[in-house]
Amino acid sequence: MLAKTPPMGWNSWNTFAEDVTEALLMETADAMVSTGLQAAGYEYVVIDDCWSLRTRGADGRLVADPEKFPHGMKYLADYIHSKGLKFGMYSCAGTRTCAGYPSSFEYELLDAQTFAGFGVDFLKYDFCNKPTHADGPLLYHRMSMALKASGREILFSACNWGCDQVETWIRSTGAHMYRSTGDIFDNFQSMSDIARSQIMKLPYAGPGCFNDIDMLVCGMHDKGNVAAGGMNDAEYRFHFALWCVMQSPLMIGCDIRSMDEVTRATLCNKELIRINQDAEARPAYSISRKQPEGLFLGFKHLENNEFLLFGFNFKEKPDLTFVELFDVGLPKGCALQLHDVITGEEEAAAVDYVHFLLPAHGFKIYRGTLVTL
Ligand code: GLA
Repeated sequence: MLAKTPPMGWNSWNTFAEDVTEALLMETADAMVSTGLQAAGYEYVVIDDCWSLRTRGADGRLVADPEKFPHGMKYLADYIHSKGLKFGMYSCAGTRTCAGYPSSFEYELLDAQTFAGFGVDFLKYDFCNKPTHADGPLLYHRMSMALKASGREILFSACNWGCDQVETWIRSTGAHMYRSTGDIFDNFQSMSDIARSQIMKLPYAGPGCFNDIDMLVCGMHDKGNVAAGGMNDAEYRFHFALWCVMQSPLMIGCDIRSMDEVTRATLCNKELIRINQDAEARPAYSISRKQPEGLFLGFKHLENNEFLLFGFNFKEKPDLTFVELFDVGLPKGCALQLHDVITGEEEAAAVDYVHFLLPAHGFKIYRGTLVTL
């Protein structure tokens, strides 16, 4: 089974848009290994839009732009595979991709065969320029089946931006992850609007098909295609922690060839990745009773009888709040033994309340076990 836990990798779009080349992809694969990202769990190296020529070949197939990819896609796939990584590409359910390149409507099987021939392991499938008579579920079923008929195991990453109540039907198409939101931009407002719009949709994610709340902007620092003001390092840590707790796929969007050490440490945070990759993949429960404005307070069951209790503060001022353990269902006679996943500090066993002192744009995540009194 693919996507037992949220897929992890890198995607070209956030920083590079149409500037995708063989050299960029090979250097990025090298950087995945040398920076320790691969060891931390990242495996897919994905080219987004703008990789092909503007017209199909005489045989109807999509053709890689020979100026951008002089040795062709199979060569690149082989290189990426030689590093122990996996290779991802992009197409779209309409007649043209979002950037205007040919895409897969009515060419689903031929394109799936082409991708399989390249050695592709992951396909992101967008939603632009869709004919009005074709509905989304049908188009995603079609490409999913075409990929299955291609004879190669390919992770199917749907991208319809949360339209048409996608969460209610996408799992049934065979997709392994699906964009449940519009595009992210590199600032705190965009990141937090996206995440907060998804809190009540978290229960739709699970093993085999995860809600993708878009690629990470951590470490972009206002450079590249989705630059929009940037964030500071603490805010990028908040963004990464939130994506981990919400079990989104972790697709890095910055230029990892030149990322700084702080970004590397954020993206490789073992404790946060362990949360994201928890084998039970249960959704976080938003503690709705008395949910304070501008905060996301939640509780999550983990494998091995462990739990998370967390608070995220989206506001520009600090907040001191608390969670009543009655509201997460703590049975009488039990306490939670918690430790802070960022600092490692142990807390006294909590029976009634856990306090959260949350800085502006700050968060706190406790991991814990139940103890009986
Ligand atoms: C859409 C998607 C983005 C990216 C671009 C490419 O906007 O949501 O993630 O793939 O298309 O054109």
